[in-house]
Amino acid sequence: MNLGNPDLIRSIRAEIEKQGPISFARFMHQALYHPKHGYYSSGRCAIGRKGDYFTNVSVGPLFGEFLAAQFAEMWERLGSVEDFTIIEQGAHDGQFARDVLESVQKRAPEFFAALRYRIVERFPILQDRQSRTLERFSDKVEWRDSLQPFVGVHFSNELLDAMPARLISGNMEKLVDLKDDKFVFVERPISQQATFQPLAQRDAFNHAALDWIDDVAAKLQRGYVIAIDYGRLEDEFQGNVQVRAQHRNLNSPFEQIGYADIAMQVDWKTIVERAQANGLRVAGFTDQHHFLAGIIAEFGRGGSPEPPAGDWGQSSLPGSPKETRELQTLLHPEMLGRVFQVLAFEKNTGAGARRLAGFKFARKPR
Ligand SMILES: C[S@@+](CC[C@H](N)C(=O)[O-])C[C@H]1O[C@@H](n2cnc3c(N)ncnc32)[C@H](O)[C@@H]1O
Repeated sequence: MNLGNPDLIRSIRAEIEKQGPISFARFMHQALYHPKHGYYSSGRCAIGRKGDYFTNVSVGPLFGEFLAAQFAEMWERLGSVEDFTIIEQGAHDGQFARDVLESVQKRAPEFFAALRYRIVERFPILQDRQSRTLERFSDKVEWRDSLQPFVGVHFSNELLDAMPARLISGNMEKLVDLKDDKFVFVERPISQQATFQPLAQRDAFNHAALDWIDDVAAKLQRGYVIAIDYGRLEDEFQGNVQVRAQHRNLNSPFEQIGYADIAMQVDWKTIVERAQANGLRVAGFTDQHHFLAGIIAEFGRGGSPEPPAGDWGQSSLPGSPKETRELQTLLHPEMLGRVFQVLAFEKNTGAGARRLAGFKFARKPR
């Protein structure tokens, strides 16, 4: 069995030997974001056919085209402001940004003129890749290593599932320990942890995601947030970990450490509660199937008589067999249509009762 990057394994082992069992959030953080050897921070991560897993973005440019139409509608709802920024976090190699910018440039020149695209990226190796992909748009795109105040929309696809989380069920937490030099899970009551587990001081199992929504809510001056991810809504949450390498689901996060992706199902409910407490309003929640169907109905062939700025008409619907396949993959409930959900917030939009296109077919949010 391939255990993973030996240097990374040594570093995590040393940490456990020094301080005792660590939370799964800490293990996941090191496996993905260790400054030198993490799966993402080292640039090892590969998405798409030749990589470890597919995402909406790697399916093809159609996904970015649909979102571009949704962003254009948001821009229009904000009164076609001149300083509209699309913020993307977790932009990987910049493909989504390119798909969006190409589409907006072609179909909505006025929106294009008003638009800035800002990528929040901490890792230089990923920034380099993104700037190569986005060379054509170098005067439109900027990079930051943290969120800054903005008017516009914050977008992310599979960002939240890549945020470290603890494995908690009731009063028990699964921690990562060593047995005969191998990583193993051990269960401990949370109430006993403060004495030996400094990382457990913050209660929420998904505090990285909650810190993120706090930050987004504070920095959004006017506009929207769209997060697309796979998650759940049930009350009783127990982290559901997925480990992926070369299009295979691995049995354990202790295989291929630093060479495999680790993702955690998103708990939408706690994120919504935290966002609302921070002054964000839910603009919609639905699965990807209904979200994209709403955009197609509004802007696709024969869509709204009053499309948002730009000519989204015919072009948003697929024509070639390749595009038809892309659309099926994104929409089909057995493919990506149901596993992914779309959550949107708004703030200071002055929005009336009319829903955004993507939530046209969404059930009433509870
Ligand atoms: C699963 S990948 C998704 C990539 C891309 N959005 C896609 O759909 O193909 C998650 C990405 O989120 C990034 N990420 C995680 N936490 C982040 C943060 N706080 N700020 C910026 N990027 C982050 C990771 O480095 C990684 O590139």
